[in-house]
Amino acid sequence: MSAKFITLEGVDGAGKSTHLDWIAGRIEAAGQRVLVTREPGGTPLGEELRRLLLAQSMHLETETLLMFAARREHLQRVILPALAAGTWVLCDRFTDATYAYQGGGRGLDPGRIEILEHWVHQGLQPDLTLVFDLSVEEAKRRRLAATAAPDRFEQEGLEFFARVRSAYVARAARFPQRIRLIDASQTVEATRNILEELISSVCI
Ligand code: TMP
Repeated sequence: MSAKFITLEGVDGAGKSTHLDWIAGRIEAAGQRVLVTREPGGTPLGEELRRLLLAQSMHLETETLLMFAARREHLQRVILPALAAGTWVLCDRFTDATYAYQGGGRGLDPGRIEILEHWVHQGLQPDLTLVFDLSVEEAKRRRLAATAAPDRFEQEGLEFFARVRSAYVARAARFPQRIRLIDASQTVEATRNILEELISSVCI
């Protein structure tokens, strides 16, 4: 079986990080090597770009281009070599986040994102994308409890996050084979039962 590329998404505070290591462990338990990585980031240059993206105010198109610059580096140096070597890749955010945040949240024309997606992905898409879906009010409560110093994105208001959430939901409806919405308002255990089924479906 070829190595799979799985991405995790959701508004800040929806709880994807809580489940990341568990999913990695589940894939390993199925006998696969797995690499856990994140965007923006995942390479030394990508992590530098992440630092700027999370701290520095910039034009929306600059923000989008830097997300894709980090992504190009990540794909070339980390994701594609891992998949070619038979290692599964579990990535905390990918291009659906650009559609949700820069497109939905900030209002960038999705046609622009599509152009960059075609250029940078060169045909690659995740095999499975898990979108952790939660009301923006509850996500904010969780964020406030977990984060002492919110970054530039986490400082955005509820309306911004409502647009981000809607964009994720719309993408899940548009790509139902690839993108699964996970109700993140449930207990961790109930969420894991759903994840178990979804991961089993790609592991076997
Ligand atoms: P994280 O908090 O999940 O690590 O992600 C960092 C922030 O970057 C998060 O608030 C979402 C944002 N982001 C975008 O706006 N566009 C993107 O393409 C990606 C990958 C992340």
